[in-house]
Amino acid sequence: MEIPTFETDNLILRPITPDDLHSYQNNFNNYEVIRYLSSFVPWPFPKNGVEEYYYKTILPKQGKDYWYWSILLKNNTEEMIGGIDLWRGSKIDNRGFWLAQKRWGKGYMTEVVTRINDHAFQDLGFEILYFGNAVTNIGSRKIKEKTGAKLIGRRLFKFVDPLVNESEMWELSKEAWLTFRNL
Ligand SMILES: CC(C)(COP(=O)(O)OP(=O)(O)OC[C@H]1O[C@@H](n2cnc3c(N)ncnc32)[C@H](O)[C@@H]1OP(=O)(O)O)[C@@H](O)C(=O)NCCC(=O)NCCS
Repeated sequence: MEIPTFETDNLILRPITPDDLHSYQNNFNNYEVIRYLSSFVPWPFPKNGVEEYYYKTILPKQGKDYWYWSILLKNNTEEMIGGIDLWRGSKIDNRGFWLAQKRWGKGYMTEVVTRINDHAFQDLGFEILYFGNAVTNIGSRKIKEKTGAKLIGRRLFKFVDPLVNESEMWELSKEAWLTFRNL
């Protein structure tokens, strides 16, 4: 199945392309964006970090139980301002997201997550989604709270920020999502 493009109130979500890599690198290479991501993300972030990640990690699996969408503003589709990815096969985490710091606090990621959850449950056949975030990542935690997910526990986890070592664990069933959305 071809990966669809979505339109939300303010944003376009479309499968990532090589044209996005320049703005991806610029917006992602920021400690505030990276600190609560998995310690697999290198810091300091290399100059070619995004290009390497795209060609070695994203592209080979894109569309094969793995999906990566670039986030663009409707009124400026030249600049990738964030990304969201979804994958099958984990009972701990099925989703990641990030947004350029200059765009935080406007409700954008809640908008993105709502559309991608609809797609996961209604089109891709997910029955349950698992999520995680650093216990200190209030923005990410709030997004889960605001989109119907249930906090189920905590576990040890290594983040880029060496001072944080615990992750919150969340789950969202299809049934809970459809009820949450009144569908
Ligand atoms: C987490 C992140 C995606 C939030 O994006 P966003 O578009 O600003 O989120 P939203 O505007 O949809 O906000 C959701 C809620 O969190 C709150 N919030 C966002 N960032 C916050 C912060 N740093 N501290 C406290 N609250 C925050 C918002 O105020 C909003 O709450 P409200 O609806 O009660 O006002 C963004 O901060 C980011 O990219 N962080 C770095 C990458 C990252 O941590 N990714 C997640 C890994 S699990």
